[in-house]
Amino acid sequence: MKIRILLAAFALVAALPVLVAGAGAADAPKLPSGPHPMVQDVPADPMPREIVDDVKRTRNYADQPPLIPHAIRDYQLDLNVNKCLTCHDRKNSEGAQAPMISITHFQDRDGQALGAVSPRRYFCTQCHVPQTDARPITGNMFKDIDTVLRGKEGGK
Ligand code: HEC
Ligand code: HEC
Repeated sequence: MKIRILLAAFALVAALPVLVAGAGAADAPKLPSGPHPMVQDVPADPMPREIVDDVKRTRNYADQPPLIPHAIRDYQLDLNVNKCLTCHDRKNSEGAQAPMISITHFQDRDGQALGAVSPRRYFCTQCHVPQTDARPITGNMFKDIDTVLRGKEGGK
């Protein structure tokens, strides 16, 4: 008798996932499919445009790497050539009227200033990025320090 109850209980537990899956199949969750059905052949959306207006963007915090406000397409940036430095290096900034890379870019990890750009700052696009007019996929609740401080004083 006891064994039979045990077996019945076991069968129920074993069948549970199947039962749950079965119940779900009726209103199965929809796969994320974007604005068009997956089977429909639609032309690709246009590429977002690069922002190349040469306007400085506010940094969200004091030591944010500033965003690049100009085109960088096809600029060579590898072991042999650094196109960015042809305008942003100390000796080239006058000719290009480009802001010089700041002192931090000449410092090694011990804070020692070197004569040329430090190897750890050589690959500019590791930190500096251009922007496009693409609509962000998700929202963003970031608040800069001024907003946070204002919120505190105002009791918000
Ligand atoms: C032909 C010269 C030239 C080249 C090459 C160049 N820049 Fe610039 N860059 C400028 C000038 C001039 C400005 C000032 C704003 C403007 O006119 O776009 C600038 C602005 C910037 C700024 C904004 C600085 C700030 O304070 O907001 C960043 C960051 C930057 N460049 C990074 C780069 C990186 C990274 C590369 C290489 C991928 C690069 N630049 C290549 C000329 C150049
Ligand atoms: C490891 C990250 C990093 C790399 C790599 C890097 N930068 Fe920066 N850059 C920063 C940060 C952070 C700032 C802002 C604070 C500062 O000056 O250090 C900055 C500031 C700048 C500025 C503004 C300077 C000013 O005084 O307004 C320019 C221009 C710039 N970088 C260009 C470059 C170029 C060109 C390269 C490549 C040779 C480069 N950066 C590589 C992080 C980086």
